[in-house]
Amino acid sequence: MRTDGESWDIASGVGVTALRAATYRALETLRPDALIEDRYAEWFVDAAHDPRFTSPLRDPTLVEDRPFGQCMGLRTTFFDDFFLTAAHTGIRQSVILGAGLDARTYRLEWPPGMTVFEIDMPAVLEFKEHVLAEHNARTKAHRRVVAVDLRGDWPEALVEAGFDPHTPAAWSAEGLLTYLPGRAHDELLVRIDQLSQPGSHLAFTTVPTGADPAALAAIRSKYSDVSPFGEGDITELIHTDARVDPAHWLTEHTWAVRQFSTDELASIYNRPPPVLPDELAAFSRQSTCTVALR
Ligand SMILES: C[S@@+](CC[C@H](N)C(=O)[O-])C[C@H]1O[C@@H](n2cnc3c(N)ncnc32)[C@H](O)[C@@H]1O
Repeated sequence: MRTDGESWDIASGVGVTALRAATYRALETLRPDALIEDRYAEWFVDAAHDPRFTSPLRDPTLVEDRPFGQCMGLRTTFFDDFFLTAAHTGIRQSVILGAGLDARTYRLEWPPGMTVFEIDMPAVLEFKEHVLAEHNARTKAHRRVVAVDLRGDWPEALVEAGFDPHTPAAWSAEGLLTYLPGRAHDELLVRIDQLSQPGSHLAFTTVPTGADPAALAAIRSKYSDVSPFGEGDITELIHTDARVDPAHWLTEHTWAVRQFSTDELASIYNRPPPVLPDELAAFSRQSTCTVALR
């Protein structure tokens, strides 16, 4: 059960989901047909010293049947392309909401003059900074770390960090929305909308809206968080309270929205569609990577 003011670090609560995502990116990087190369991901996983995540990196066969693993390369590539496409249109400020251990600021070949803002909870970003400093990592864009709770007044912190609300931006909310309470979720959309000049881009992942929370919970705990990724119940981390449908809301607010299913992404990136058990295939078909242009 989520509570309103709770906090977390990389080893607890929602923070662990950032570590899990990094583990999947590290595993994708190890594949002979890898779609991405994220060597930073392995640094983060190693530094967290959590055997649930370090063991699969030493022996990827431990998690090769995890369905989500088949999708991470697709999702990461989708967001990589999204940011580079936005940059190609002249955008020079990118905001990664709920950045976790996303290392795009270091990985991508950004054009000169790009500033990337990474927003997440203070303790998550502290861990990230520590690991990156330890490895003497060098960014490929101007990087601004904004340690702030996305359930609060984050636009003020973002603008203080140098975000220019009078200039178009590229925004991502990758693997974030389901971890926000309904009210913060809806406010996030309103705030992105208010801060987005015409020409702005937004990309986000969604899980099915209106899905029966109990069915969703059963699927998630069965497939996403069973051993060897730990015994914790991920359903305790997500919010299933009422919220707007983001694609619908954005369309009503003058954004042009396009949604991609996992199968469509597989076809775009030339991978066989993930082979999923029936109950998960239905869920996966309704989960999307969405891009919206203003
Ligand atoms: C599943 S992880 C995804 C991380 C990253 N976007 C990725 O795809 O690897 C969710 C992230 O959202 C962050 N997050 C969730 N709720 C948040 C909040 N209220 N304020 C700031 N960050 C939040 C978590 O700390 C975590 O890093």
